[in-house]
Amino acid sequence: MKKLNVITSNQGKYEEYKDMLADSFSVSMKKVHYHEIQTDRLKDVVVHALDDLVDHAPLIIDDSGLFIDALNDFPGVYSAYVMRTLGCGGILKLLEGEKDRGARFECMIGLLEEDKKIFKGVCKGSISHEIRGEHGFGYDPIFVPSGYDITFAEMKTDQKNELSHRGKAMKQLLEYTLS
Ligand code: IMP
Repeated sequence: MKKLNVITSNQGKYEEYKDMLADSFSVSMKKVHYHEIQTDRLKDVVVHALDDLVDHAPLIIDDSGLFIDALNDFPGVYSAYVMRTLGCGGILKLLEGEKDRGARFECMIGLLEEDKKIFKGVCKGSISHEIRGEHGFGYDPIFVPSGYDITFAEMKTDQKNELSHRGKAMKQLLEYTLS
């Protein structure tokens, strides 16, 4: 089976990768520090990071973010910082009294084998009025994907992967690598 290193320090992300990729790859989690450039595009972060990580190939990394309509796409590329500082509760406060709850998650996966390749997945949904659910990580307890009335944190990993930004990007990665 082909090896694939998942470069992340986020156990939640790794569980999602394992759930979808472990049938096709021998996956391992690797915590490696890499340089994250300051930019307003997730894709630029991934493309530059891949250059830093050549010694760890074959590998994948991802950069993801939550984009909230009523906040002009905030926190977007600042999602990690905002999670550390405001958290889910802070986002709910920012949206107090706001009728437009629309939001989306975006995920860019960078694959480095012989070549570089980028896959993008988007998941539309809305921000709940309260924190709900025990599963997942990050903003999962406040994100309700379109067509559902439960948050990502109320879903098991395989159900989240069916719908999520990361799951959609992973489906493209699997089609590309296995074709
Ligand atoms: P990064 O891609 O690890 O930089 O993630 C940016 C921020 O968004 C972190 O705070 C993550 O916890 C959060 N995040 C990324 N992907 C997801 C997800 O699938 N669900 C919930 N939060 C996420």
